[in-house]
Amino acid sequence: MLYSLEHATNAHSNSWFLWGVGCASFYFLIWPKLSGKIEYAMLKNAAKGELGKVQQLSKLSLFADMSSNVKNDKNKLVVLELGISSGPNIQFYPAKSLLIATDIHSMGVESVKHNCLANDIELMKYKEAKAEDLFFVKSNSVCAVVTTLVTCSFENKCRAYKEIYRVLIPGGRYYFSEHTAEFEGKIGMRLLQYSLFLPKFVLFYCHSLRDQMNDISKVFGAENVKAKKVVMPYADYTWNPIILSAAPRVIGYATKI
Ligand SMILES: C[S@@+](CC[C@H](N)C(=O)[O-])C[C@H]1O[C@@H](n2cnc3c(N)ncnc32)[C@H](O)[C@@H]1O
Repeated sequence: MLYSLEHATNAHSNSWFLWGVGCASFYFLIWPKLSGKIEYAMLKNAAKGELGKVQQLSKLSLFADMSSNVKNDKNKLVVLELGISSGPNIQFYPAKSLLIATDIHSMGVESVKHNCLANDIELMKYKEAKAEDLFFVKSNSVCAVVTTLVTCSFENKCRAYKEIYRVLIPGGRYYFSEHTAEFEGKIGMRLLQYSLFLPKFVLFYCHSLRDQMNDISKVFGAENVKAKKVVMPYADYTWNPIILSAAPRVIGYATKI
């Protein structure tokens, strides 16, 4: 009797242990790839709809004067985009620019090549890399760095912003359009962002409460950041709390002096 009770208890704790190992392996080994695929598919799909049109308008004004950005010593505009995904921003870059494209996965490589060809952009390099470690880019070598909806996923935001600063040539600009922490004092939006923080972090490694304006200012100096905080007009998406919680945006650029 005693033996079978002990046996049953051991079997019970063994199965809990196996469950734990199984769940941890799924979350740390399989889920990152799966969530990347889900995110990639969702973004490609969203770009075709109303959401895409809203993003398009804000990007048009962000990248409007990119051609006046400083060039390198060969009079070329070298752009480094981090978290490029399928390359939805390539269409906004001035023709004949040189592009270094990076992401933590290479799902979008064919689409990036296609967008470069279609927009007369020369793809210098495509590299699977994290923004936190840009060892393959020389210091003071790129004219512009771009991130759109990427900084929420930085594992080490300070390190990533310092890397961006390092690779820019003096006078070069870091362009960003990022969803940010609520800034108007709207209780409803604040509650939404707080309540979705854990699911968004666990499912998509997305920190929805970051204040990028503050973090970027610490690295570039507040006087060198020209950005505005706006709430994206997502009136058609009131049914979708995930999209709605990303409506507060910070859009602009920081210049390396
Ligand atoms: C929400 S998507 C945005 C994609 C694209 N920039 C856009 O505006 O549609 C975020 C992208 O950042 C990439 N990413 C996540 N963490 C990253 C990191 N630490 N460094 C660079 N890219 C990262 C993801 O793989 C994904 O492609």
